[in-house]
Amino acid sequence: MKRITSIILLACVTITAIADRADYRIIPLPKTIETDTTKVFTLHDGMSVAYDANDPEVVRNAQFLCQWIEELAGLKLVLSPDDKAAPVRLVLGLSADKKLNKSKKSDKPVKLTPQQEEAYTITVDNGGIVLTARKPIGFFRAAQTLRKSLPIKRNLSTDATSANSVDFPFTKIADEPRFEYRGTHLDCSRHFFSVDFIKRYLDVLALHGCNQFHWHLTDNDGWRFEVKALPELAEKGQWREQSPLRRAGLWDGVPYGGRYTQEECRELVRYAAERYINIIPEIDMPAHIGSALKVYPNLRCDVQNERGVDQVLCAGNPETMPLLKTIFGELCDVFPSKFIHIGGDECPKGGWRKCPKCQAKIKELGLQDDGKHSLENQLQTWMNHQIEEFLSQRGRDMIGWDEVLEGGLTEGGVVMSWRGVKGGIEAAKQHHRVIMTPTDYCYVDYYQLKDHDRQPPAIGYYLPVSKVYSFEPLEGIPEEEQHYILGAQANLWTEYVAYPQHAFYMLLPRLDALSEVQWCRPDQKDYEDFKVRLSHLQRLYDRIGVNYCHDME
Ligand code: ACM
Ligand code: ZN
Repeated sequence: MKRITSIILLACVTITAIADRADYRIIPLPKTIETDTTKVFTLHDGMSVAYDANDPEVVRNAQFLCQWIEELAGLKLVLSPDDKAAPVRLVLGLSADKKLNKSKKSDKPVKLTPQQEEAYTITVDNGGIVLTARKPIGFFRAAQTLRKSLPIKRNLSTDATSANSVDFPFTKIADEPRFEYRGTHLDCSRHFFSVDFIKRYLDVLALHGCNQFHWHLTDNDGWRFEVKALPELAEKGQWREQSPLRRAGLWDGVPYGGRYTQEECRELVRYAAERYINIIPEIDMPAHIGSALKVYPNLRCDVQNERGVDQVLCAGNPETMPLLKTIFGELCDVFPSKFIHIGGDECPKGGWRKCPKCQAKIKELGLQDDGKHSLENQLQTWMNHQIEEFLSQRGRDMIGWDEVLEGGLTEGGVVMSWRGVKGGIEAAKQHHRVIMTPTDYCYVDYYQLKDHDRQPPAIGYYLPVSKVYSFEPLEGIPEEEQHYILGAQANLWTEYVAYPQHAFYMLLPRLDALSEVQWCRPDQKDYEDFKVRLSHLQRLYDRIGVNYCHDME
């Protein structure tokens, strides 16, 4: 009996030991990890965390670290800024830089890439856990890595009492992202999502090391951005009479609306910035703007085609550009983002071809058929150019979907390549910056399993997580042009996605896969290994109540 008891006891101890051990092989996988699993540093409840209390950003990141360790492992650490002997320390300055500075002849500071600014290291040894970073952002990345490394107890209230410590194997981790732009998009026009949900969405983006949130604020289906000088734009433009059901031809008959006040947008900008995410707002024009045309019907230049009426803004109406400038002006006031997205996709030109005002504008501008770009495509480029100049005066750069190439790219335009990668390849050839988000790899509104009946409704098509994982944004780009590729982005359009848990279901685990595309070098990637690491992260999702697709193809 005694022997059996001790075997059971031993088994329990072993299970606890395994369950309470950190594992640094997280998603996205850090650049280098050297771990000695034979030695551990044990972090206990009540241990202190030291950091520079004079820097509010550092303070916030120390607080995040403590909050996450408590949330997942049940350990309450003590914020002790001046404790030199604290077992957990946040230290500014990478040791590699110190060596470099010593050996350097000139005093000129080395210019860091945006990725190098995010670099961090984590060292675990007898002395404790030391996080080092060049900038406070590195502490945030390091804290997220430790958060994802933590063992996750199934039931915090009962398990935490049995083990109020976590073993961290000795390690040296050094990490920085591969691409400077790591984006995720959300369409809040087709369906409106609350400010609270967007905060949770931002949290999930931050968990994956994303640094850009592309916010699709307007489309035919609803105008969501308050413009103070044009109050009726959001008041009326937010509403649609009803929404389409899954099968074409069926409608729900329920009025649907929602909009964000400028104050709410500012609150989200602040919330995102605290998590090192920039919000790129998009006002889509001159098509995908039916919600504004409802309010300003005199600016319509619609075209009838076999699908119905395509709603397009009149390029030749003298009221159009002033209206757009008022909108983009307030957008710049609210969003400090360097990038402002002007849409530019899927603009049918039939209406412009027939419209006397648009044709008069083409004449007035002296646009000529150059055999490459139609007159109407050039007219769209003229509109883009007006907005680009307007944005540039405010220190901003314009992003457009890859259709902005069709009339000739404006000078500083950044291309978001969605109809495959060819637009991105062409833009890079023309020395324009590019964000890769091709439908085939990055459209997470597609089904992720072959069997549609096992999933909530999606727009169609098929994009399994394994395909997202296989994406290589630099493929087909000559080496000397690769630096124009800023990074990659996942897009979540919401025609059929009306609820938060459905949105997360579409996003995850495909964003997990894309985060390794965005963050890791190709030679680090291994899909089988990714799947093993994913199962741990999914326990974290379970803990924080984030939904995801459980099956993977
Ligand atoms: C797009 O998906 N229409 C950019
Ligand atoms: Zn017109």
